[in-house]
Amino acid sequence: MARVLTGIQSTGTPHLGNVLGAIQPAIEMAKDPENESFLFIADLHSLTQIKDGSLLRENTSAVAAAWLACGLDTSRTVFYRQSDVPEVTELAWYLSCYFPYQRMTLAHSFKDKSDRLADVNAGLFSYPMLMAADILLYDAHLVPVGKDQLQHLEMTRSVAQRINHQFDPEHKRKILVVPKPLSREDNMLIPGTDGDKMSKSKGNTLSIFADPKTLKKAINKQIVTDATSLEAPKDPDGSVVFKLYQTLVSAHDAEEMAEKLRAGGYGWGHAKKDLLEAIVDGYAQPRARFEELMSDREAINDELKKGAEKAREVAAKTLGRVRSAMGY
Ligand code: ADP
Ligand code: TRP
Repeated sequence: MARVLTGIQSTGTPHLGNVLGAIQPAIEMAKDPENESFLFIADLHSLTQIKDGSLLRENTSAVAAAWLACGLDTSRTVFYRQSDVPEVTELAWYLSCYFPYQRMTLAHSFKDKSDRLADVNAGLFSYPMLMAADILLYDAHLVPVGKDQLQHLEMTRSVAQRINHQFDPEHKRKILVVPKPLSREDNMLIPGTDGDKMSKSKGNTLSIFADPKTLKKAINKQIVTDATSLEAPKDPDGSVVFKLYQTLVSAHDAEEMAEKLRAGGYGWGHAKKDLLEAIVDGYAQPRARFEELMSDREAINDELKKGAEKAREVAAKTLGRVRSAMGY
């Protein structure tokens, strides 16, 4: 049985791109009885960028509520908050002392962030060691990540190999499991309301959790359509409204909209209305569940605490092996 582990950034309520591109596929994958899955909210990593405690908590709640509302089964997935397992920071320290400073300076992600962000703190620099600890603490075999995280996975493998080699050159006792990345092809790239990749940083997102009125406003205002008259035939393939609709409905329903657009007599306003309906109706259940959870933070906390208890059992064992290997 493979243990699959991944971390989710806690940067606010997930948008449609996150739901279709990350949450739904991960929930499907967690159903595979061949895998054991660990999923956590990386709220310690968030501290590199967010300094407001109430915002940190709000973001964590929103992310947790979104995953639960989309159907994450916590009896099959260990679902927890990174900061509820403080063992991870101790392991991160040990790892830091076994990883060359020179290699840390080669991290693309740090270079990229330090070019963009005003607050370039030391935590941002040591981010990869905390991420390595996230993975190694739980003996993960497979780590699904996007391409931008592959270098961090390489660093994780390298530091685990260094420690194993130092204390267990003959592979007689297992200290750390060397994980493999499961490269997530971004094959399903959901466009934002401006046609670019949907992303929080671009302000072009739609939320499945927003109330229908807000969503209607976002669709009508943010998606720019050309001035083709209602009667004129339209090209579905060049249109964001159609592309978004297509990601949400069956191939049959998408073809129906395409035909109406090509035929003429069906305006962008109609298409937007159908898109709105597809989101509002298609996600009625998750939206209701999300609202329910967000108004009952205790329920979210309880789920995360239960997950953390299970996670800590594994964490204590790994940390015990590492401490004794190092002579503590
Ligand atoms: P954002 O770009 O909004 O900051 P993140 O980088 O936090 O989103 O992405 C979180 C997860 O959601 C990642 O697994 C990423 O691949 C997925 N994701 C984000 N945007 C999209 C999108 N537009 N289409 C498909 N998947 C996406
Ligand atoms: N760094 C990852 C990201 O930006 C989030 C993350 C933190 C993570 N720890 C992890 C992902 C451990 C996988 C495994 O998306």
